[in-house]
Amino acid sequence: MYVTGISSKTIIEKLPYEKIETEYREFPDGEIYIRFEEKIKKIREILIVQSLYYPQNTHLIQLFFMLDTCKELGIKVHLFVPYLAYARQDKSFKKYECVSSKTVLEILDSFDLKSFYTVDVHEKKLLKHIKTESKNVTATSVIGRYLEKEDLKDPVIISPDEGAVDIAKRVAEILDCEYDYLEKKRISGHIVETKPKSINTKGRDVVIVDDMISTGGTMVKACEILKKEGTRKVLAGATHLLMVGDVEEKLKKVGIDKIFGTDTIPHKYSSISVAPLIEEELKIML
Ligand code: R5P
Repeated sequence: MYVTGISSKTIIEKLPYEKIETEYREFPDGEIYIRFEEKIKKIREILIVQSLYYPQNTHLIQLFFMLDTCKELGIKVHLFVPYLAYARQDKSFKKYECVSSKTVLEILDSFDLKSFYTVDVHEKKLLKHIKTESKNVTATSVIGRYLEKEDLKDPVIISPDEGAVDIAKRVAEILDCEYDYLEKKRISGHIVETKPKSINTKGRDVVIVDDMISTGGTMVKACEILKKEGTRKVLAGATHLLMVGDVEEKLKKVGIDKIFGTDTIPHKYSSISVAPLIEEELKIML
C-alpha cells in the first residue's frame, strides 16, 4: 500500500506503507499549491491520511485537491480522516442553518472513494452521507492499552455525560474495571446535583474519557464534581484534543493530574497513536 497526506505526517510516519511525498506551498495571497512526487504515476491504489483539525478549512481544501488529483489519475483512494471537522454541526439547530457536516461528507463522497474511515466521530449517524464503504473506528482499544501502563489505584472510568458512556464502557472492558457516567439530578426547583450515576469514587483513581476536549469546560466541571466526591487522582483524556485557548491551564487549576489523548490532532499530550487502528482496518479491507 502507498500512503500520503499533509496534515497527519506523525501518523503516516508510523505506518508500514510506502510514502508518497507532496510538495506543499502557500502563496502570499493565501492560496495553496500541492504536487505529488512522480512515483504517483505508477500507483493504482492509495491511502490518504488527512486529519481535519485547525486550520480545518485549509486541511479540507488540501484534501479536496489531493482527492481530485487522485481521481484524475485513476487511483483508487482509501481515505482515513482521523478527526472529522464540522461533525458537531450535524443538524440545523436553528432554522436555515447550514448543516456543514453533511456538506463536507457529500463533497468527500463525490470523489468516488474506495473506502472511508474516521475515528470516534462526534455523531455516528453522519456516515450515512458517505455512500461508499465507511466506518467509524473507535480509539478505545489504544486508549485502554495506554491506561494499562498507568499505575491506577482501584480505577473507575467515567464519562462526563451519558452521550460518551460507550467510550467509558469500552475502555473499562480493557482495564477490567468499573465505569459510570455523571448524571444530572433535580433535587428541587432550584437545585440540580450532578454525580456519578451509581459508583462511589471516594479514594479511587478516576479516568474521565470523552470524544473530545475543546474548551475544557466539560472536563473542568466533571473534575470539580469528582474531587468533591473524594476521588484520589483524576486523569482526563479524549480521542481528539482540540485544546482551544487556555484549556491546559484550566484543567490543571481544577487539579487534573494527567491529560492524555490520541494523535488524531497533534498536541503535546497526544501521545497515543491511532496508526495501529489504520493498519488493522486496512488488513480487513485489502
Ligand atoms: C459533547 O457532546 C462532547 O462529547 C464533548 O463533551 C464536548 O464537545 C467537549 O467540549 P468542551 O471541552 O468545550 O467542554
